[in-house]
Amino acid sequence: MRIGVIGGTGREGHGLGLRWRLAGHEVLVGSRDAEKARAKAAELTQLSGRPVTGGTNEWAAREAELVVLCVPYSAHAATLEGLRGALAGKVVIDITVPLRPPQVRVVHLPPGSSAAQEAQALLGPEARVVGALHHVSSSHLAEPGEPVECDVLVCSDDQAALDLALTLIKDLGLTAYDAGPLANAVALESLTPVLLHLNKKYKSPGAGIRFTGLG
Ligand SMILES: NC(=O)c1ccc[n+]([C@@H]2O[C@H](COP(=O)([O-])OP(=O)(O)OC[C@H]3O[C@@H](n4cnc5c(N)ncnc54)[C@H](OP(=O)(O)O)[C@@H]3O)[C@@H](O)[C@H]2O)c1
Repeated sequence: MRIGVIGGTGREGHGLGLRWRLAGHEVLVGSRDAEKARAKAAELTQLSGRPVTGGTNEWAAREAELVVLCVPYSAHAATLEGLRGALAGKVVIDITVPLRPPQVRVVHLPPGSSAAQEAQALLGPEARVVGALHHVSSSHLAEPGEPVECDVLVCSDDQAALDLALTLIKDLGLTAYDAGPLANAVALESLTPVLLHLNKKYKSPGAGIRFTGLG
């Protein structure tokens, strides 16, 4: 699949792009700065041994079959508004956690909502928003040879989009579960600040989650 990574020059985008390219997917690195995206694409090309391309976020959103949004929450709404046309009809995996620096270890949610629900509202019904990957630390994703000790919960109001995301996340080498409708993103996004607290408390590079009893 041709996957566009918006904010693909960042920490999470790096590991996702590298792992998806190694799994055989085409990866389009997006950035506000096309040159910066091309430099990251060159780095991923070297690391994966397979060609990766880069360009603006708008280019990546338009050219991709599916898009992953990897920008900080402070840039979430503005980035989506700028890409609304390019994202019409597409599956958008939103990994955003609505953190409020510097208090990143305290839950902060948009009132009565979540970043993923905000994305769906901003993009309208034509885009098929999926919330996922909120608990997977970029430090683990960046080591494709290492297993990631973290399950992934995936939610969406579009079952086909959710199922596609489950498949792509399994291609990253992760175990992924259907966590229900997009409204459940509130629970998923709320857990990340707790993991960040655990990282600090127990001096971990990236605490993860595991589910039991799911067969
Ligand atoms: N890091 C993790 O371990 C982790 C884990 C789970 C979920 N997440 C979530 O994943 C998202 C990305 O996290 P990250 O750690 O990868 O972030 P990051 O490295 O700080 O930033 C990612 C990219 O976002 C773009 N960006 C930064 N400020 C922007 C702005 N004001 N407007 C538009 N674009 C901007 C930058 O790309 P350009 O400068 O190239 O445009 C940057 O490379 C966040 O929402 C975070 O909550 C992160």
